Amino acid sequence: MTTTTLSVIGVGYLGAVHAASMAELGHEVIGLDIDAERVAALQAGIPPFHEPGFADILARGLATGRLRFTTDYADLAGAEVHFLGLGTPQRADGFGADLSHLETAVDALAEVLPSRSGAPTLVVGKSTVPAGTARLLGERLAHLEGVQLVWNPEFLREGFAVQDTLDPDRLVYGVHDREDAAAEQAIAMLDGVYARILENQPPRLVMGYEAAELVKTSANAFLATKISFINAVSEMCEVTGADVTDVARAVGMDDRIGAKFLRAGVGFGGGCLPKDLRAFIASAEEHGVGEALGFLREVDAINDRRRGRVVELARELLGDLHGRRVTVLGAAFKPDSDDVRDSPALDVATRLRAAGAEVTVTDPEGLENARPRMDGLAELEPDLDTALQGAELTVLLTEWSQYRELDPARAGALVTAPRMIDGRNVLDPQQWRAAGWTLRSLGRAD
Ligand code: UGA
Repeated sequence: MTTTTLSVIGVGYLGAVHAASMAELGHEVIGLDIDAERVAALQAGIPPFHEPGFADILARGLATGRLRFTTDYADLAGAEVHFLGLGTPQRADGFGADLSHLETAVDALAEVLPSRSGAPTLVVGKSTVPAGTARLLGERLAHLEGVQLVWNPEFLREGFAVQDTLDPDRLVYGVHDREDAAAEQAIAMLDGVYARILENQPPRLVMGYEAAELVKTSANAFLATKISFINAVSEMCEVTGADVTDVARAVGMDDRIGAKFLRAGVGFGGGCLPKDLRAFIASAEEHGVGEALGFLREVDAINDRRRGRVVELARELLGDLHGRRVTVLGAAFKPDSDDVRDSPALDVATRLRAAGAEVTVTDPEGLENARPRMDGLAELEPDLDTALQGAELTVLLTEWSQYRELDPARAGALVTAPRMIDGRNVLDPQQWRAAGWTLRSLGRAD
């Protein structure tokens, strides 16, 4: 394998993992971010988020000198390949994606590229973007000789980010024109960067820009749809007396459907699925085919309804929530993560507070990140036992193993009243009821 000098612009979750993973493959990598604090932390080997395996590859990259970080675009001038790992947050004025970080970064990069005086240079977009973005960004680079843009979406899952980057289930390359010789050269360059990944022979699919962009947005929208589908079935289960876990297990055994992403509960959150779903809806509307993806609004609405359902169940169990002590198990949007972006757990905690409850939130990793959002709204208690003390109602919203494995007798001795809402369907109702708990779930009748 040949070593390539490359940059990763934007070292948030995706970019930081990508930079360290590329150094792990043996490349010389420089990560850039405008956030000087983040750059300093990464350069000091301090991971800015909780991600298994990331601290090790970060430390190794820094120790070998193959990985470094900067805030200065001038330091990127010598690199042959530049990855764009910038965020595309939801716009403040609607559902669409805010592309300003990407645009600013591409313009700043374009300033330093001429110093390579025409030597082949590759820009690789990894961010999740609406169809049409790559072509627009490409125009911002079109005046530069020897510069090619490939769109190469990232499919990593938080919690498996390093593994998903180094051993992906597929690689997608979007190019401006598959017939073009320059595109072929760009593909060969990216193959060179990923040579060690390609040794495992993952499918590598070359397509147009728009298809590559749509692969990513469709995949996330499909995952969100699958979750909301089973959550809609949950609503039927609750009124008919069925248990959604029985339904999901049997339905998922049809391998055309598959068992994954059929876990019913309080629904999806995180920095990707909710915002990508909304950006997809907005993009379809902008292209005049809003009706085609109109059903995705319902996918979003079902997800929101499940959060509201937890508050309804709390009222069914406690009556008026004013002054009542409620403990929420979970702050992160999913277990094994400290990410609280659009976390269902924090949203429900906020709604319970708005209904008058005195809320305590506990989480093994997510409290630090939850603090700015929950300031004045909830007590944040890292110790599980302390958090349970005095609870009149306990609500499980993030299925950390320590909550899944909670012993009902031991927990029962800590709380004031043994009432539980299982928002993830991970507790054994029989076991909990036998230990004296009143247990309600999302998708199972009482
Ligand atoms: C998601 C996708 O799964 C990745 O493929 C994608 O690359 C990534 O977004 C991205 O766009 O960057 P991630 O946000 O890490 O990854 O989280 P997921 O594991 O997909 O979980 C999303 C949410 O769905 C979580 O809140 C989880 O609790 C919820 N979920 C998941 C369910 O409620 N039920 C399920 O059956 C599965």
